[in-house]
Amino acid sequence: MNVHITGTGSGIPARLVANGELAKTLDTSDEWIVSHTGIRARRIAGPDESTATLATAAARTALARAGVKPEDLGIIVLATSTPDYGAFPSCACLVQRDIGAVNAGAFDLFAACTGFIYALETARSLMLRDPRPALVIGADVMTRIVDWKDRNTCVLFGDGAGAVVLQASDRPGGLRDSILRADGTGSQHLVHEGGCRTPESGPWQKATLQMQGRQVFNFAVKAFDETVRALLAREKLTLDDVRWIVPHQANIRIIEATARRLDIGMDRFYVNIDELANTSAGTIPLALDQMIREEKLHSGDTIVLVGFGAGLTWGGTLIKW
Ligand code: COA
Repeated sequence: MNVHITGTGSGIPARLVANGELAKTLDTSDEWIVSHTGIRARRIAGPDESTATLATAAARTALARAGVKPEDLGIIVLATSTPDYGAFPSCACLVQRDIGAVNAGAFDLFAACTGFIYALETARSLMLRDPRPALVIGADVMTRIVDWKDRNTCVLFGDGAGAVVLQASDRPGGLRDSILRADGTGSQHLVHEGGCRTPESGPWQKATLQMQGRQVFNFAVKAFDETVRALLAREKLTLDDVRWIVPHQANIRIIEATARRLDIGMDRFYVNIDELANTSAGTIPLALDQMIREEKLHSGDTIVLVGFGAGLTWGGTLIKW
């Protein structure tokens, strides 16, 4: 049995905030942000938008494109770091309710910016036991947990959700191989407090993201490079066989540094960080959806998805489209 992505969708807030708007209230500039990150704008969720509403919008489109009815879904796996509620109900259950997936199980998965890679492999593995279609979502509203006074971090993030539908079939290809990795010894490099460990930090919503940017940058380039090499080695492929590398969109300079290490051109990487910034678990499915709309993915293309982020976590998935 092979598992294919048969539909994709996006959920993006209406409000677009360009760098210049941030520079009105923060000691920063469009020039600094573009030159250090590649980001020109981000979407920011409005009062009526949340991780669940963006995820639901993405899910509806993905299901329609796949031609799958909500009641036919067997499982919903939603990767997020910013669930609507602190602990429960899960965002996946809110999506399940709103799309009417009455026969599906649903749960959230926490692996920060690597969440979509973890969710994809989790759903694929579950489908080996129950081959009904699966819905995999990466969704975050990072702008609700950043410290808007910290120019080192707040300029990097945006809000958005991407969804994919997985279906089992005998057609060759599909999700071929995955690598999931973690290194908790680096957990202090990227932290959002407010859980049970730090009750003194107050309500969950009050805690803000803390990051050691340089350490995260160095980790990301190494993890990115190693994941691509390891997946290709396992599949006995070379970089020449790969049409697209679709990375987590954290910083254009992370992608450029990896391109140099792999000795391939930037034209082999799909990049949309300029308009959406880092939407955490959302970046990879949002990129896939945009690639499909731009007709950049064709049957038989080999692509490599790569995620990395807090935890520390990292991983990749090799797909024959
Ligand atoms: N506007 C203007 N200046 C800024 C700024 C901003 N938004 N953010 C930081 N600066 C300043 C710093 O204060 C520092 O000033 P100083 O030299 O006077 O202290 C200067 O720019 C350089 O800071 P530095 O930390 O050396 O910049 P950098 O080149 O390492 O870039 C990051 C900083 C955060 C962009 C970079 O480290 C990064 O992208 N790290 C990875 C982050 C990430 O992707 N996290 C998510 C992973 S999933």
